[in-house]
This record gives sequence, C-alpha cells and structure tokens, in this order.
Amino acid sequence: MTTDPKELDHADPHTGNRDVDPVSGYDTTGHDWGGIKELNTPFPKIALVALVLTFVYSVVTWILLPAWPLGRDYTRGLLDLDQQAMAVERLSTIETLREDWLTRFDTPDFETLSDDPALMAFAMPAADRLYQDNCSACHGRSGGGGPGYPVLSDDHWLWGGTPEDIAMTLQVGINAQHPDTRWAQMPAFDWMERSDRHALAEYVAALPSGAADHDGAAAALFAENCASCHGDQGAGGLLNGAPTLTDDAVIYGQDTASVLATLRNGRQGVMPYWSDRLRDAEINALALYVSRLPDDGAADGAETAQASGDTAPEATQ
Ligand code: HEC
Ligand code: HEC
Repeated sequence: MTTDPKELDHADPHTGNRDVDPVSGYDTTGHDWGGIKELNTPFPKIALVALVLTFVYSVVTWILLPAWPLGRDYTRGLLDLDQQAMAVERLSTIETLREDWLTRFDTPDFETLSDDPALMAFAMPAADRLYQDNCSACHGRSGGGGPGYPVLSDDHWLWGGTPEDIAMTLQVGINAQHPDTRWAQMPAFDWMERSDRHALAEYVAALPSGAADHDGAAAALFAENCASCHGDQGAGGLLNGAPTLTDDAVIYGQDTASVLATLRNGRQGVMPYWSDRLRDAEINALALYVSRLPDDGAADGAETAQASGDTAPEATQ
C-alpha cells in the first residue's frame, strides 16, 4: 500500500490532497468557509443527458422553424411555418365563406332568402351570434324582452313585424340619435285630475281580460285622450309605436299601479340605431332572424314577467 497521496483513490492529481467528508463519504472541494466545507459531488448524469437533449432539440428547431432575428427579418426555417400567415389565410377563408352568403343579404328580398334552406343554414346561426352580441342584453336571449324592453318573439309589434319593418327599425332606431329615427312618445298626463287618471288606469288594466266597461266615463276619457294613438278601445295596430293595450304583451306593465306611473310620467323608450355599427346585409339577416323568433311563451316567461301571445294568457296582470 502506497503512502504517496497522489497514488490514493480519488486523489487530486495535482496535489494529492484528499479531504473526505466523514458523514457522506464524498471528497470536499477543499474550500472552507469558517468551518463549512463544500462537497465535491459529481454532476448528476440525468441532468447531463437532459442538457444534451435540449441542446440537440434547440439546434434541430433552429433549423426547421423560424428562429433567429436578422435585423428586420428572421431565419424562416426549412419547414417554412409562419403562424401569422397561417392565421391570416384561415381568417380570409372564413371571410370568403361568410361573404358568400352575407352578400346575398345586401338585397332584402326576404322571401327568396328564406326559401333557400342551404342559405338559412349558414345565415341564421350567424344572425343568432349577432343577436346575442348586440341585442340580447336588452331583449333577452330568446327575444323574451323584459320590463321596458319589448318582447320580440311574439306577434305584437309597435312598428310592424315583417322583416322589412324590423330592418327599418334596426336601421334608424326608436327615439334614437338617427335623423330619420322612428319617433314615439307616451305623453305624461300629469295635468289630468287624479281621480280621472285612476279611473283610466283601472279601465286600461281591465282591457286585456275583456272586463273593461266600454260605456263608462273612463272609456269616454280614453276615447278622447288615448285612442288617437292606441286605437279605439286600445286595440292598437296603428304601427305608430303605441302598443296595443288589449293583449297580454306589455312593455312597462299594465296593472293599475304601472299604468298610473305611465300616465303620471309618460314613457319614451330608446332603441339604439344600428346602421353605423352593422352593415346592411347584417341588419337584413338580423331582421329575418328576429321575424322568425319562435313564439314559445314558456321560454319568454323565464326571462320576463310578461306573457307573449295567447300561449300563456294567465301569466300576466
Ligand atoms: C339598449 C337596449 C336595446 C338594445 C341593445 C336593443 N334594443 Fe331593440 N328596443 C329597445 C327598446 C327600449 C325598444 C322599445 C322602444 C319603445 O319603447 O318605443 C326596442 C324596440 C325594438 C324593436 C321594435 C319592436 C316592435 O314591436 O316594433 C325591434 C324589432 C328591436 N328592438 C330589435 C332589436 C335588435 C334586433 C337589436 C340588436 C341589434 C336590438 N333591438 C337592440 C332596446 C334595445
Ligand atoms: C301621442 C300618442 C299617445 C297618446 C295620446 C297616448 N299614448 Fe300611451 N303610449 C304611447 C306610446 C308611443 C307608448 C310606448 C312608449 C314606449 O314604449 O316607450 C305608450 C305606452 C302606453 C302604455 C304602456 C304599455 C305597456 O305595454 O307597458 C300605457 C299603459 C299607455 N300608453 C296608456 C295610455 C293612456 C291611458 C292614454 C290616454 C290617457 C295614452 N296612453 C295616450 C303613445 C300615446
């Protein structure tokens, strides 16, 4: 057995000094920080392998994929993959697809359009997206409306329910900023005797059920003050923005208290106009969509206290 330190196992070949940590059995580096020594443990193999693999991987990807900036340009890589170009290409494919059917809505020939099932299969889901994005916040997800916002899924219309009428309503809005906006105001009748207002409110509240007395003083007041806008005995249908008062569809409420509030303060709902936010073809697609909203009173009931149509007559007032 040799006593030359340079001959010992793991001896430092330069100095032959070995300083073995008695606990772990590893050599130390020989550095000593106030009695604390650093173990000279070998570099773990797994880390070495990982390092080599990642290095190889990065070299391969540098060669295959876009990688290094070259001033204003960059290395393109052998695969010539450019995600930006790919995204632009896919987008333009979708745009062309959309354009294909959307341009057909430039001409609002609604009958021909709705007779084309292949077209409808593209257009109506897209119109539904437009509706959900732009309209559902006020009119409800399925057109069921809510207090202050009319139901769109029934057949009671302030301004007409054909696709043409609806497209016009969308173009110019109601009481909106558009110069040609549809304009309608329920004037305040605060000048009227309180007792007359009460009688009128009771009369109007009784109209939908058919229980109203058409020979009484209130009916005469109605004929004098209200019929010019709401039609004889509230039958409506003048398409002047004033709702029919004889049906179940209500905007603000047709119980006595709500009618009293309407009479005291007046009403003037605002429907924004869309001609500067949506293009004509989109408005026409939306108008067709709205005109075809199914009138399933049950779904509406979930969104609003109003009933719609004759399907749920007992749900209101
Ligand atoms: C900020 C709320 C709001 C938004 C958003 C809105 N509306 Fe309206 N809309 C109204 C109000 C309020 C009225 C009723 C105005 C009135 O009382 O005279 C109305 C009325 C209408 C009418 C007329 C109904 C009738 O009986 O003639 C149609 C149609 C309509 N909206 C469709 C739409 C569509 C489609 C969209 C989406 C592009 C939309 N609205 C977005 C508030 C809104
Ligand atoms: C100048 C036309 C005009 C006259 C006159 C008028 N109304 Fe109205 N009324 C309207 C309009 C327009 C609305 C819808 C307002 C809105 O949607 O913002 C309305 C709404 C109402 C509503 C709310 C209906 C609902 O669905 O919530 C009631 C109730 C009503 N009017 C009752 C009356 C009574 C009663 C009189 C007579 C004292 C009267 N109106 C006179 C135009 C008129």
